[in-house]
Parts: sequence; C-alpha cells; structure tokens
Amino acid sequence: MKKSKKILTGAISLVLVCSLASASVPVFSAETGTDSGVIFATGFEDSEGLDLFSGRGETEVLEISDEAVRTGDKALCISERSESWNGPQFRLDDKCEAGVEYMVSASVKPEWYANVSLSMQFTDSEGTIHYSNVRSVQGDSWIDFKDVKVSFTNDVTDVYLYFEASDAGVKMYLDDFELKTAPVIPIEQDIPSLNKVYSKYFKVGTALTPSDLSSKSFMDLVDKHFSGSVTVGNELKPDYVLNKAATQEYVKETGDDTNPQVSLSAAKSVLDYCRDNNIPVRGHCLVWHSQTPDWFFKENFSDDGDWVSEDKMIDRMENYIKNVFEVVEKEYPTIDFYAWDVVNEAFTDDGKPRTAGSNNESSGSSAWVKVFGDNSFIEYAFKFAKKYAPENCKLYYNDYNEYMTQKMEAVCKMAADLKEKGYIDGIGMQAHLDVGFPSAAQFENALKTYTETGLDVQITELDITTSDTSEAGFKKQAQVYSDIMDAAVKYADKVSAVVLWGVTDENSWRATQYPLLFDKDFKAKPAFYSVVDGLEVPPEETTTTPVTTTTPVTTTVVNPTGLYGDLDLNGVVEMTDLTLLSQHLIGDIKLDSEILKYADVTYDNDVNLSDLSHLKQYVLKEKVILGPQN
Ligand code: XIL
Repeated sequence: MKKSKKILTGAISLVLVCSLASASVPVFSAETGTDSGVIFATGFEDSEGLDLFSGRGETEVLEISDEAVRTGDKALCISERSESWNGPQFRLDDKCEAGVEYMVSASVKPEWYANVSLSMQFTDSEGTIHYSNVRSVQGDSWIDFKDVKVSFTNDVTDVYLYFEASDAGVKMYLDDFELKTAPVIPIEQDIPSLNKVYSKYFKVGTALTPSDLSSKSFMDLVDKHFSGSVTVGNELKPDYVLNKAATQEYVKETGDDTNPQVSLSAAKSVLDYCRDNNIPVRGHCLVWHSQTPDWFFKENFSDDGDWVSEDKMIDRMENYIKNVFEVVEKEYPTIDFYAWDVVNEAFTDDGKPRTAGSNNESSGSSAWVKVFGDNSFIEYAFKFAKKYAPENCKLYYNDYNEYMTQKMEAVCKMAADLKEKGYIDGIGMQAHLDVGFPSAAQFENALKTYTETGLDVQITELDITTSDTSEAGFKKQAQVYSDIMDAAVKYADKVSAVVLWGVTDENSWRATQYPLLFDKDFKAKPAFYSVVDGLEVPPEETTTTPVTTTTPVTTTVVNPTGLYGDLDLNGVVEMTDLTLLSQHLIGDIKLDSEILKYADVTYDNDVNLSDLSHLKQYVLKEKVILGPQN
C-alpha cells in the first residue's frame, strides 16, 4: 500500500514564539502556592527573596540593591564574584517534587557584556555532582529568561538552579525571579497513533532523556505514538556508563587496569520507564569516538597517563562490552534490548577512518584510531558484542551521512566482512537530514543499497531540519518526511524500526531548526499529518488474560499460591516477578523472607543471579523447572 502524497495543513496552528521573548513583566511579591501554580516569586523588594538565595562560591556578596532594577525599586546584586561559575543559587529539591515539570522566569543583567547562563546542579545516586547549562544568552542589558522548563528525577539530590556569567569579575543583577509548576497541555487524542499505523511495517520509536520524563504532555505523546522503541538519548553512551572512581578503585584493589567499571545510574529513570511500560529498547552505543572520556584510553585510567597499547585497549574494550551486557541483564532482565549500536560513526564522509586523536581536544578525532592506528577496532567491537550479547539482541553499525557515496561503500564493505564472520545483524542510518539535503531519492538509494547487504536496516535517529519556518517551509518539511517514510515502507521487509530523535521541536538537540513532528505545545505539525496520511489504523487487538501453564509444586511450606517464582503472589509466574527479583538483587527493594523462599527457583538455599537467570528462562518459555523439582 502506498500512502498519498497530499500534505494536510488545515487546522494546524504553528506556535513559534521564542521562549525567551518577554513582553510584559508582572509585578512581583514573595508568595507561595497560589492558584497559578507559583511556588515562589520575588522582585527582591524585601529580604524574603534574599533569604532563598546563596552564593555558589566563597567570595560573592549578595545584597538587595537599587543600583539596577528590572521592575520595582530593588533587585538582587551579586558582587565580588571570583570565578565564572560564581553567582546566586536557589535550592530546588526542598521545595519541588521529582518528576514534575517546573518553569523558571527571571531577569538578569551583567555589569558589562557577558554570556549569562541559567544552569542546574545535582548529585547523582553515586555521589557525583553534575552541572548543566539550561539556557545561555549574551548581552549587557537586562536578559529575560521566560518560562524556562526545569525538572529533576527522583534518583538525584542537592538540586540547585543558579545563574552564572562568563566573565568572573562582572557584577550581576537578578530581578523578578519566579518558579511555578508547568501547565499540563492535553495532547491531541483524535489523531492516529504513529506506532500503530506503521505497526505492520516496523516499530516506530523515539529517543528519551531523563528530563523528558517530567513533562506529562511529552510522555503522553511518547505513550501514544512512540512506544515501539526507545533509545536512551545520552545516558547509555560511554561517558555516562563508565564509572571513573570505581574503575580506579578496582585498579588499586586488583592491580588489573583492563577492567573498566560501569554503571547504569544515569539511564535509570528512562530504563525504569521502559521496563514499567514494556517498551523495547535500542542500546546506544558501545564504541564511539565522541562522548567517551580520554582516561578510558590512558594508562592507569588516569587523564594524564600515556595512551595505552592496542593489546591493552582490546582487553579494556572486551571487558567494557562484557560489563555493559552483564549489568543490563542483571538490572533490567525484563527489558527487551532488541538492538545495540556496537560501533557509532567510525567513517568520515569520504569513507576513511577518522583522524587519530582525542575528540575532547579536537572535535571529530578518534581515540580508537589513535590507539589502533586504523579502523581495525570495529571488528573487535562486534566480535565481543556477539560474544556477550543475549541471543535475541541484534547488533548494528550506526552512522550519519550514509548516503555519501564513499562512506556508503566503506560501510557496505565493512558490513559484508562482518556479516561473513557472523558478527553483525544490521545497519543503522541515523538520518539527521535537512529539507534541502539530501534529496529523498538519494536517501532512498542508500536505504536500498544497505538492504542489499542482506542485513537488517533501521532508521535510528530521524529528524529533518528546516530554516524556513513559514507555512510553506513546514509544508516542504512535511513533504520530505513523507518521502522518507515512504522509502522506509517500500523496503519494510528489510527495515525493522524507524526511530525519531526526539518528540517536540523544543526538546530536540537541533531545536533552533524545528526538526520534529510535534511543536513546543505538543501539537502535531504538518510533518506529522504527512506521515500518517493514507495509512490505516489497525483494529484494536482483543486482549486475553494470560493463563499460567505452571503446575503448582508440592511444598511443605505454605504460601498463598505455592508457586516458586511467583513473587507477587498473583498465581502466575511472569515478567513482573522477574522485575521484583532483579530489584531485590540490586537492592532497590527488599523482598519479605517468606516470599524470598519462593525466589530460590534453583533450590540451592541461596537467592542469587542464577535464580534470576533461571527465572528469566522460565518466563521466556525455555522449559526449565522452578523450585524443588529442579
Ligand atoms: C546527541 C544528543 O542528542 C545530544 O543531546 C548530545 O549533546 C550530543 O549527542 N549522533 C548520535 C547521537 O549517534 O548519539 C547524537 O546525540 C546525535 C548524533
């Protein structure tokens, strides 16, 4: 079936208001919990505002002043700053709830021209402090931050909002600070679900980052349209997964400097969401030149060590890949990690290896090439991934600009070699496109070429930028989206997933060029209508109640259900029991000792990882026996 090419634009309002623009500034007074969702607001007219701010550094002086004001008679003046990160900070987690979206508005003026940032700080569950710039604006007059969205997840503490200015010596003025709960905008329910209309062709999914989870509207869109597949937007990349302190500690304890220690703590909130909502996950990514720390490649895992030898790096790579697959299996045994990007972006557009070096020092360089001398690391990565990945997890090479002829040839050649060795299952086309380039025909030709390798193909990071934000511009974008999805449908028997790189324009990594299917108010754009147009919504499947095939075991211990493995005591041994056991083993919950007896499914008087693996095999219907008869 071919979709019609008609682009629907009727009744779609495109709200493209820049979120920094602020026409009117309300009159401020300190107030708490008003109907409008305001949690705290101050114009610094009295000392109440001052009391809630503190200096981030040791030198700053914070005082109410009338030297410069945005509204009213007073503002907060921050002087004696001695570092660029010095400035006023406001503690968030003692006033706000985790997992809820808030909006901050404030006006800031640097004494002279500087880059002013609204930033956040939090401490993760392992005690590491993280900093992130939420919004940065340059200027020397009043800069209005208007309704900037902020949130934090429930696994972090000591959350602060703060303002900083690029120039250490510059005085800062802060006025009209307001923190309020973000309104929940209902999503459009009367439009078809993207994932459903494409369900007979391939999965449709999106990338998610922890901050997305706090917006109910955003997550309603994920639930309705993108529940076919989720990629963790950043938090499964090496720089988040590698745990430097634990790795160095491991070296100290064992003398072995080839075993990088890993942690899924940064990805936890997104992975918990996928687990609880049964969403398949694309793992992204194991081996990449970018978002990977240099210390991973240096002697003693230390920033100033020498680059290690190729042999040592092979061992480190093997252990890293092994450890990642093990921790994923241990902590998320019920998630269907159906795909992993094993190697990301190894070729330049002319099909060559990247320049040897640190990407952190010279953008685009590869530390992998620095250590291996060429792209020979790719084969090792796939070999190890094949060795440690579960059988049902498919392994991909993933890259951008894969329609460039020389890159396409290099990727196909590499893929053919790896296929011959049985190491690779598919090719991921990132597809970060623009309305002007490449043409849909060029993209389709590349897609066709990759399907001809006999491997599976996935579109893994689709977004299409436009700099023309007129109605005609968005219509053009809709046409390109439609053409790309038509190409995917044309080769659907070889294409198993199409994943968008985000949901709303505002949350995109390329937000300034409006590349996605929904606008900042969660409304479907012309591009959305263009890709669902002409496709049928499949009839709802009738759901049947799962029936257990387990024969209750005879046991002398009485429990309400008498089933080994049935940890929620509902009479069925299923995925939820697996989740409970995994949460117990990693210490997230503590199972009652009566229930724990039934977790010993291998019946060896111990509850450990082998019970988890045994239970998983049972749930996946791999004929194993639970409990005393084992
Ligand atoms: C991007 C993220 O979306 C950004 O938040 C981050 O700052 C940089 O990386 N190719 C990839 C993705 O494989 O991992 C990249 O994601 C986009 C390009």
